[in-house]
Amino acid sequence: MKLANKTAVVTGAASGIGQAIALLFASEGATVYAFDIDEAGLKETEAKAPYGAKLTTAVVDVTQADQVRDALERVAQEAGRLDILVNNAGIGIAATVDETDEDDWDRLMAVNLRGVFLGCKYAVRIMKRQGGGVIINMASVAGIVGVKNRAAYSASKAGVYGLTKAMAVDHAADGIRVNCICPGTVDSPWIGKIIAGQPDPDAVRKSMEARQLLGRMGTPEEIAHAALYLAQDESAFVHGTALIIDGGLTAQ
Ligand SMILES: NC(=O)c1ccc[n+]([C@@H]2O[C@H](COP(=O)([O-])OP(=O)(O)OC[C@H]3O[C@@H](n4cnc5c(N)ncnc54)[C@H](O)[C@@H]3O)[C@@H](O)[C@H]2O)c1
Repeated sequence: MKLANKTAVVTGAASGIGQAIALLFASEGATVYAFDIDEAGLKETEAKAPYGAKLTTAVVDVTQADQVRDALERVAQEAGRLDILVNNAGIGIAATVDETDEDDWDRLMAVNLRGVFLGCKYAVRIMKRQGGGVIINMASVAGIVGVKNRAAYSASKAGVYGLTKAMAVDHAADGIRVNCICPGTVDSPWIGKIIAGQPDPDAVRKSMEARQLLGRMGTPEEIAHAALYLAQDESAFVHGTALIIDGGLTAQ
């Protein structure tokens, strides 16, 4: 049990990578609070939780400051601590910069960047009070290298990368470890929907698989294990890093 006696919050935990993280953390003994806006998806996360898991769900929109602040404070009060926050909720837009609608840009930034900012801001307050904690932000390889047709998304993930580094500098002395994960293409429901919506889904799936040197997409569980490593005490010396889990996408 790598997370026994730890309390963790995972955002975007109704689907894909966030759901896998919430389930893995719960199976490693953590008391997990799964946040999302998708109530039906949260019920699915609950249903998939292993027998005896301590997993609670709550509808929380990461773009809303009062919701994020109140939900994190509730967790700290109820559980006595907030040891780990995984800011995972995110959305995507497939477009070049000139094709990106201003409202779509704002909507994406609200979830992917403001949402991470709000989670960090209100978790840091709690973690400072209790003398430390761990924050894991979900970035992407798209925040490090250019990915075709993902202008707003790449910008948001580069922002998450930068925020992670800045926070690592600011909060080391508070005992708060801050890292981010940069996945390559991961076969989550989100990617499944993108593929299904294409005129030739098989060809799109193959091209998405081929982006990785390993010739396949990652699984949500593989990303969850990276989050588990960053959350557990064995990674106590890992701080301010961007852990790339991408099947070799950025190796060349
Ligand atoms: N799948 C990939 O290839 C990939 C690659 C790199 C990074 N990522 C990142 O991983 C994270 C998870 O992606 P996924 O592939 O599992 O996607 P997903 O769509 O399966 O899951 C994302 C979850 O975030 C939730 N969400 C959206 N807006 C929200 C809001 N305002 N408040 C709370 N929850 C909200 C959704 O309801 C959904 O449950 C995202 O940040 C994504 O950018 C994914």
